[in-house]
Amino acid sequence: MKVLFLHICYQIRMKFNIINIDKVVSTNSYAQQLLESGDLHDGDVISTRFQESGRGQGNNFWESEPDSNLLISIILEPHMISASQQFVLTQLVSFAIADIVKEFVPQDSELLKAKIKWPNDIYIGNKKVAGVLFQNFIKGNKIEYSIVGIGINVNQKKFYSEAPNPVSIINYTNEQIDLDELLNKLLEKVGKNYEEYRIEKNFPILKSMYINDLYRFNSWATYSDKRNEFRGKIIDIDDFGRLLIESQNGEVKTFMFKEVEFLDF
Ligand code: BTN
Repeated sequence: MKVLFLHICYQIRMKFNIINIDKVVSTNSYAQQLLESGDLHDGDVISTRFQESGRGQGNNFWESEPDSNLLISIILEPHMISASQQFVLTQLVSFAIADIVKEFVPQDSELLKAKIKWPNDIYIGNKKVAGVLFQNFIKGNKIEYSIVGIGINVNQKKFYSEAPNPVSIINYTNEQIDLDELLNKLLEKVGKNYEEYRIEKNFPILKSMYINDLYRFNSWATYSDKRNEFRGKIIDIDDFGRLLIESQNGEVKTFMFKEVEFLDF
């Protein structure tokens, strides 16, 4: 009976409403403006082919030449996720993007494997192919709404900004990819992960899927924190999304976003 119920629920896929705009300053900023005037709701997606001032994490600029890449902001009202569990959203979105990249880039060598670099960058080998800018608006202990800004480098062959290690899907396929097809596939995956989580709230499964795709999981590498550089291996993520790295002397260090830097690229 339970199986039947879940099966029926999975057919109820989330509906997305795509709003296409030729160019915009930033899809996240535009979405925020519309949300403030009450004009956007769960499942609306702002999609553009060019941003005049695309926003990355922190104060970074997100580079994207016109008509080349996927640039969207998805509006979610994830009332089933409490403010203290915000990392659930990070996991289900980054996992969906990594899955899409895997569909387009052949996964036949370790160097081509799509991975999630904690917390939500998507990497192919040691290069960044996609990034996510989350803006979560909290009320009480609930996420009232979230603007999920996603940039995937798709058909742009060269990058000119200071971004440390950008790469595009086309650098591995040598064929132009249809951005609408990619967008539809991505939304289907995000919607599936989102609905499944809404119904089952199976945090352990979500976490194990995320960890399974985690860049540098369980392998030795060099990191730096505010005190020094050290060798360590990622051993876990806690329920708040903090990264646990074991150093060579067996000490386990816990990091929030921006408290640790990945070295040796
Ligand atoms: C990062 O620095 O990794 C996050 C990059 C997020 C870029 C996307 S592109 C669409 C959306 N609108 C923005 O201004 N930024 C996000």
